[in-house]
Amino acid sequence: MNNEKINRRDFLKELGFTAGATALFASFPWISGFAEDNQKAIAKEKLRIGVIGTGDRGRFLLNFLVRNPKADVVWLCDNYQPWLELGQQIAPNAKTCADYRQVIDDPTVEAIVIATPLYTHHEIAIAAMEAGKHLFCEKSMAKTLDDTLDMYQTHKRTNHVFFVDQQRLYDPVYLKAIEMIRSGMFGEIQGINTFWNRNGDWRRPVPSPELERKINWRLYKEYSCGLMTELACHQIQVGTWIWRELPERIYGQGGITFWKDGREVEDNVGVMYTYKDGKRLTFSSIISNAFYGLEEQIMGNLGTIEPEVGKYYFEKTPPMPGLLQMINNIEKEIYSTVSFAGPSWDPEIAKQNHGEYIIGKKRDFLDGTGFTVDAFVDAAIAGKQPPMIAEESYYATVLSLLGQQSIEEKREIFFPEEYRIDYL
Ligand SMILES: NC(=O)c1ccc[n+]([C@@H]2O[C@H](COP(=O)([O-])OP(=O)(O)OC[C@H]3O[C@@H](n4cnc5c(N)ncnc54)[C@H](O)[C@@H]3O)[C@@H](O)[C@H]2O)c1
Repeated sequence: MNNEKINRRDFLKELGFTAGATALFASFPWISGFAEDNQKAIAKEKLRIGVIGTGDRGRFLLNFLVRNPKADVVWLCDNYQPWLELGQQIAPNAKTCADYRQVIDDPTVEAIVIATPLYTHHEIAIAAMEAGKHLFCEKSMAKTLDDTLDMYQTHKRTNHVFFVDQQRLYDPVYLKAIEMIRSGMFGEIQGINTFWNRNGDWRRPVPSPELERKINWRLYKEYSCGLMTELACHQIQVGTWIWRELPERIYGQGGITFWKDGREVEDNVGVMYTYKDGKRLTFSSIISNAFYGLEEQIMGNLGTIEPEVGKYYFEKTPPMPGLLQMINNIEKEIYSTVSFAGPSWDPEIAKQNHGEYIIGKKRDFLDGTGFTVDAFVDAAIAGKQPPMIAEESYYATVLSLLGQQSIEEKREIFFPEEYRIDYL
């Protein structure tokens, strides 16, 4: 199964709930649009959508939109013709243009999807919100703290539906994980260790040299904040979601340590977010070694949960009966002969604890993006902003930008009060 096939009912089933699951909706009010009653209320309408940006992500989103019977993609906009044409292959009936104003000025368009590079989000988003459109914007929200706050405040004032694609908020594995954490299964969460490692230069082929900055915008500081806004924002959001508070202090470091190819953004970063009693969320990313990949290791005094692997582990597993343990040790060739005295110390490395699956099996769908897109369509048709979506996304961006600021200014940053909103 994958996102293309999984539907809302499966979504609830993945979580072990039925469609009327009131407890689930109480814990995660932003997903209550998936409740059966809410679905009936919006079943007959279609939302007229303009998609701005048909690059990699825009086309990924388009694939979900065209299979949603309540979505009608009426415009595609991109100022790079070859990628606009690729978008057309997915939504051939949509009109096309290169200037986003044409889409926003169309009074029949009800909702806008923005999947352009980070530095363009603010301008297009403000134009869309001021024109009274519902808005789905790719993460991160904006490239500066002021623009991010401006987007949030404009959303509050214009009062239309505003989603940012922080897809973990709609990922069944994450929802289940958060529920387990809140039940106290893992004790008090003491630390969250997050990392996103890859082995690749993050470059895309450029057909001619003058297109370098257009195609590889991620690598240049005029357009991008690099690993922090491209990757970290997803993982930092998990910290806010779990702890329901903001860090007091942020300290980051980074540099270009491997891909010295003319890029401007760091290829190696580490940021520590410290909360009021000293607990920490750390984010680190290296893009020249993929061995440890991607994970959020959420660590409580009773256990650990790793949503990307989709597993959880208790600190104390029941001891194996003595004989079994002895056989096990021989099989693993820990001892060539059976010793009578055990080792006098226990190495402090990860224990051979294989854990349990969070949703009862290995994750077999990509992530929460499809559900986020569907939830946006539902919310826009209903004209109702789900709680917490905009706020979680706002802080995810703010914390990513503060991490980047700390890296660039080589100093610790205290959370600036002027960017606090009425949430948490
Ligand atoms: N939520 C996620 O997991 C996720 C994953 C990947 C990317 N993203 C985000 O999606 C956004 C786009 O990333 P991408 O990888 O698709 O980039 P991309 O470069 O592949 O696509 C961006 C597209 O926007 C077009 N564009 C640029 N400026 C424009 C303008 N003013 N008007 C119209 N079109 C314009 C470009 O020509 C390009 O086709 C970024 O903000 C990125 O962070 C999110």
